[in-house]
Amino acid sequence: MSTHENDTATDSGTMKRSDALSRCLDTARDTLYALVEARTPAGEAAERISGALAASTGRIVPCVVEAPPACRYLRAAIDRARDVASVASLAGAFSALAPELAWRRRPGAEAHGEVFREGHANALIVGPGGLEQRNDVLVGASLVAPGVRYIDHHHPPEEIYIVMSEGEWYREGKGWYVPGIGGTVYHPPNVVHAMRAGPAPLLALWVLWVDPASSSTA
Ligand SMILES: [Fe+2]
Repeated sequence: MSTHENDTATDSGTMKRSDALSRCLDTARDTLYALVEARTPAGEAAERISGALAASTGRIVPCVVEAPPACRYLRAAIDRARDVASVASLAGAFSALAPELAWRRRPGAEAHGEVFREGHANALIVGPGGLEQRNDVLVGASLVAPGVRYIDHHHPPEEIYIVMSEGEWYREGKGWYVPGIGGTVYHPPNVVHAMRAGPAPLLALWVLWVDPASSSTA
């Protein structure tokens, strides 16, 4: 992940998760297991990711950054997810963790125009440069403002999104589709994908498994 000039590390880090971080990761695991089928690619990725997070904790490094403008939609998106049973617990746990998160634009976002630059924000919960710093697993959230399209992208790690809002997802070879709140989206390594918000903000949690044999990150 890129560094930001206005980032402020508030201490040198600990190896203990806060109660809010533990609860959010545990709830994300439970939600994933409830939503994805075992013995599918997504189910097996969920097993690998959950196993790694249970086996060890990375260095916890709190960080404060100036939130991008899209974050004004965060509260509305969380409140909407809280009304849907399949993701209500996760929305509550994520809401409790939100004050600890550093929301940032995607690195290189300025090359994709003002609408995208001002209309999205990502928070890395676990991963290089995230709240919990480690290299094998990434957990984060994306927020997209109403009417904004997140850019096409791809990455070596496989990925599962837990969909916590209305909105459309794109996958090469499949086109645009609506997973719905409480849906999941699985992307095998390197598949081109995107998403776009309709009238409501788009909110999703994502988890990625980074093959230990690979040095690549998302
Ligand atoms: Fe992705």
